Formats: sequence, C-alpha cells, structure tokens
Amino acid sequence: MPNKDYISNSVIRRLPRYYRFLGQLQKEGTTKISSAELSARMKLTASQIRQDLNCFGGFGQQGYGYNVDILRREVGVIIGVERKIKTVLIGAGNLGKAFASYFDFPKYGCELVGIFDIDPQLVGAEIAGIPIDNMTKLTAFCAGENPEIAVLCIPKNSAAEVCEMLVENGVKAFLNFSHYDINLHFDGIITENVHMGDSLLTLVYNVNNRGK
Ligand code: NAI
Repeated sequence: MPNKDYISNSVIRRLPRYYRFLGQLQKEGTTKISSAELSARMKLTASQIRQDLNCFGGFGQQGYGYNVDILRREVGVIIGVERKIKTVLIGAGNLGKAFASYFDFPKYGCELVGIFDIDPQLVGAEIAGIPIDNMTKLTAFCAGENPEIAVLCIPKNSAAEVCEMLVENGVKAFLNFSHYDINLHFDGIITENVHMGDSLLTLVYNVNNRGK
C-alpha cells in the first residue's frame, strides 16, 4: 500500500466519485470495465484514471481493464468506509431532520450516534430511530461515545460556541452547513463546508452565460 500522505487533494476529491460510479456499475451487473470505457463514462481521460488509481498501487490488468467489485472494494478501503466513524448531528431543524433521515450513514463510512438541539420542544423526538437530545447532555455523551465527526445544521450565529464545545470534547471533523468559517477559528480541524446556495449561483451564472 503506498503512503497515503502523498496523495494529492485533487485525487482524494475524485475518490468518492469513483466509489459512487463503481457502485452504479455493480448495480447494473457490470463485472469488468476497460479504462477507456470507464473514462468515457466518467468523463475523465483514461490516463487520468490510470494515474489516479496508480497512486494507490493500480488495480487494472493490461488487456483486461478493471474488475468492478475489486476496484470498488479497494477504493472503499482507501477511503476507509468500513470503519464507521462515530458522528453526531447538531441542529434538528428542517435541514438536520432531512439530512439525518435521508442519509444512510454507514454507506458513507459513518455511524450516526447522536442528535442534539437546544430547543426543548424537539428533545425526545426521534429521527431515524435516534432520539434528539438536549445540548446540555453533549459533553457527557461525547465522553462516553467519543464521536469524531459532527454535522452542523445550526445557524451561523450559534456555530462558534457549538464548535468550541465539540472540539473541546474531541470532535476532529465537521460537515458544516452553518456558513461559519470553522478553519479561520480552529486549527487542525478537518472541515467540509457545504453551501448549496453557491451551487445554485454557479448554475444560475452558467444558465445566464452559457446556456444561450
Ligand atoms: P431551522 O431553524 O429549521 O433549524 C435550526 C435548528 O438549530 C433549530 O432546531 C434550532 O433549535 C437549532 N439550534 C440553534 N442553535 C443551536 C445550538 N446552539 N445548539 C444546538 N442546536 C441549535 O433551520 P434549517 O432550515 O434547518 O437550517 C439550519 C441552518 O443551516 C440555517 O442557518 C441555514 O442557513 C443553514 N443552511 C445551510 C445550507 C447550506 O447549503 N449550507 C442549506 C440550508 C440551510
């Protein structure tokens, strides 16, 4: 296994796409695929795909292509989907409810272990079989469960305080919907910021400028 520390961010960014795409091929019953076919379907060049997969030791065979099951399993191992990282979701409003009930966390390498909110009216209700707990219980919960990831579905103005509490309690990584700039305030914390509005604005720009 090559040293994962040297894998570029752009390759890491493409891994989930390979994983999803290979899962789709499995569902279609495809057992092997040439790098040319894979590249045509993923809209990447064949050499890009070879380079990406070579970063992890390459899984193709000359003249055969890729075995879909093996390649997907290997990409899954590289991502680390089997470990099921303990995850908490903070903010059980519209977004939090939708996210917690929609996402199959284990499929994405996580286990949703707790949902927290400050609104006492929400406490006790369940989402995806998990009871919403009061934020006052978060510290004790983290001491017992040691979650490493937090999904932040709270308003920006609550995020600083909540992040501080989570980081103090050992959370290392955030899926951040809150629009609060976590990395500006916390060193060494892994963050994925999600801004659906940015995607929509990009789309609007492209429709306005390219779609004519
Ligand atoms: P919402 O008002 O339905 O839910 C927010 C929840 O957060 C409420 O249940 C509230 O009690 C809870 N909350 C507030 N402060 C808290 C704290 N200190 N600790 C724990 N819980 C706390 O709002 P909605 O629609 O679910 O959106 C949540 C946030 O996500 C909003 O601020 C919105 O701007 C943002 N958002 C971001 C998107 C993105 O793409 N990044 C997309 C949609 C929403």
